[in-house]
Amino acid sequence: MSRIAYVNGRYVPQREASVNVEDRGYQFGDGVYEVIHVHDGRFVDTGLHLARLARSLRELAIPKPMEDGALLVVLREVVRRNRIREGIVYMQVSRGVARRDHAFPRDVAPALVVTARHGKAFPREIDTWTGTAITAPDIRWGRVDIKTVNLLPNCLAKQKAREAGAYEAILIDRDGNVTEGSSTTVWAVDEDGVLRTRHLDHHILPGCTRAAVISLMEEAGIRFEERGLSEAELRAAREIFLTSATSYVKPMVRLDGVAVGEGTPGPVARRLFELFARHADGATHNVPPASPRLASCGGIG
Ligand code: PDD
Repeated sequence: MSRIAYVNGRYVPQREASVNVEDRGYQFGDGVYEVIHVHDGRFVDTGLHLARLARSLRELAIPKPMEDGALLVVLREVVRRNRIREGIVYMQVSRGVARRDHAFPRDVAPALVVTARHGKAFPREIDTWTGTAITAPDIRWGRVDIKTVNLLPNCLAKQKAREAGAYEAILIDRDGNVTEGSSTTVWAVDEDGVLRTRHLDHHILPGCTRAAVISLMEEAGIRFEERGLSEAELRAAREIFLTSATSYVKPMVRLDGVAVGEGTPGPVARRLFELFARHADGATHNVPPASPRLASCGGIG
């Protein structure tokens, strides 16, 4: 079955889908995107992803291509036409098509592309869902809280991980502190047993899975701190795990070739994996995004 994409108002076979050569997303990386996990035919954390998309657009002064209700109809239709039960839906909004000029064009409509693809269902057992990580310098720009399509530094870091046979590159900033993974949020249980993930600011993406996991932990009374880790603290961590729409809750059992803790998924990752699995199954889908952190998917204005 050929894949179907949505491109600026039309559903087209993906192999025939194209964008204009003067699309600013293509020329300048002047666009934003979202990836939503599809599980059992349903979207996971849709509200959070749409809120973050709206925030990314607002930060770059790109108008919304359509209201959320209409966008949801398009997302559902792309998933339906591609018969996806497990996988992802990808949406990208660029500032639009205009004669090449760095400054924003006037009166240009934003361009919207939506694609979807099949994926494997997440495993029910965390022990089959482990990975390894390397560290890499964070060489990205100063506003990575906006989910732009400017992913070259992330691609370079991920490639370095691939070449090392690792799943993820954990990025270390110039001050020697962990920011996040090349496409994931980083969590660690430190030497003292404290679960930590970096606070939100302009130097990490406010992960929707991060926000969902925090809400689940608050409900379950699990303590954690939004406090950054140094590289040394990361290396001394008892547990390291990642979260994202495509990584779920994924334990890293080796860092730069050295075992993390016992070299097996730790108890905290195990607990959160189970909580998130129930959440993704729909058990907590309808919990409204109550905390400011969830409502704005970042809470950083
Ligand atoms: N990446 N940090 C970065 C840099 C990311 O690219 C992502 C997501 C995350 C986790 O965000 P979320 O929990 O909302 O997926 C953190 C997506 C999956 C991607 O680029 O494919």
